[in-house]
Amino acid sequence: MFDGDVRGLVVVGSQWGDEGKGKIVDVLARDADWIARYQGGANAGHTVRVGEDEFILHQIPSGILYAGKRCVLGNGMVLDPAGLFDELDGLMERGYEDAEERIYVSSRAQLVLPIHKLLDRAEEESRGADRIGTTGRGIGAAYTDKVARVGIRVGDLAAPDRLKEQIDAAAERARKRLQLLGSDLEVDGERLFDETMSGAERLLAMSTDVGAVLKRALDRDERVLLEGAQGTMLDVDHGTYPYVTSSNTTAGAAATGVGLGPTDVDAVLGVVKAYTTRVGAGPLPTELPEEEAARLRELGAEYGATTGRPRRTGWFDAAVVRYAGRINGLTALAVSKLDVLDGLPEVKLGVGYRLGGERLDEFPADLTTLCEMEPIYEAMPGWQASTAEARRVADLPAAARAYLDRIAELTGRPIRYISVGTRRKQIIDVEA
Ligand code: GDP
Ligand code: IMO
Ligand code: MG
Repeated sequence: MFDGDVRGLVVVGSQWGDEGKGKIVDVLARDADWIARYQGGANAGHTVRVGEDEFILHQIPSGILYAGKRCVLGNGMVLDPAGLFDELDGLMERGYEDAEERIYVSSRAQLVLPIHKLLDRAEEESRGADRIGTTGRGIGAAYTDKVARVGIRVGDLAAPDRLKEQIDAAAERARKRLQLLGSDLEVDGERLFDETMSGAERLLAMSTDVGAVLKRALDRDERVLLEGAQGTMLDVDHGTYPYVTSSNTTAGAAATGVGLGPTDVDAVLGVVKAYTTRVGAGPLPTELPEEEAARLRELGAEYGATTGRPRRTGWFDAAVVRYAGRINGLTALAVSKLDVLDGLPEVKLGVGYRLGGERLDEFPADLTTLCEMEPIYEAMPGWQASTAEARRVADLPAAARAYLDRIAELTGRPIRYISVGTRRKQIIDVEA
């Protein structure tokens, strides 16, 4: 994807998360100099396989597993310092000794404090049957504080006296909120301050103005890959609200989330699975009945990389990806997990929706409509052959090629990459 003049590339999830972004970013990171996360936090779980080793990255960009690549945690993220240190220590123990030297953290990034996780839990409990099924990582509460202009940022760790006041105020707000929610969880302000300060030196040593760093890199003609977390349908504006995460996950947020400008982005690659999954509650139009869903779940090993929850599964929803194409301005698609469909007698594609006899032209915003509309399916023959060894489009069975062609046609976006397994070499670059 770093062809010609492409220097700034966004890789964005174009369904409900877990599309295989980690695998695709890892493959593309070989040609990048910088890999940056622009939103989200430890709610993400990006799986990368290197040889026989598997890594699940939550806050660190998936480029870290290549020697010499530099990784950025952008201002758009909500950072959990303890989690970040655990992740770094784990990488260093597994042979990536210089990982910490290659990490650049935005001094403008927001901190996730232990109170945010308590609030996440209490908010979910108070919703009862309407719970979102969050990852419990404090994401919503941390972004709430950011937008309310009371958040604590990485750079604030450099001024302990002011930080003490900020933390005391945050503890007081959390106490009141927990009480309102009817929770008996307790907040210890002193402990909160000590815990926050305990990681301060280490985090500050990694922190900088990452926008300035990345802009200088682009001016030197270096390549910057902006790695999205979650997916388009979990975007707080464009997703299946309110069953979404609390950030803009889409490509428009990429530049803002690292301190670059929109004109620094030259291309946008949308990652999609060859079928659909979702973890957590909320509408999933092409969801299969449990018996069939379970078959796809087992074939695709669809269990959450962050929480281990079983993922809900369904057929590929071309209407969703067509929508994601517009919202993200997708240049091309990367289709992952094609191999999971190997051997099915028939594959189906959602091509649009119907509600009360009428066809819907655009992906609806309204929750009631989202829950009531019915997908319209098209069936295609499956392929009774393995795709795992395919390295060129011509190696794929004819029925698999027809399926991919139909995806490109229905979504209006060209397919650039096809992933046929977890290994680095299990990738087809259509233009190679
Ligand atoms: P992400 O959050 O978008 O990075 O995706 P996850 O890592 O949460 O989930 C994707 C899962 O599918 C991981 O277990 C990957 O190892 C796996 N995976 C990625 N690409 C492929 C592929 O082409 N084929 C198969 N079989 N598995 C894949
Ligand atoms: P990656 O980057 C899949 C889902 C949660 C829940 C909703 C809100 O691995 O694709 P949150 O904790 O963010 O407040 O939860 O969003 N969710 C994800 N689903 N992949 C993710 O990340 C997700 N991050 C959050 O399950 O439904
Ligand atoms: Mg994931």
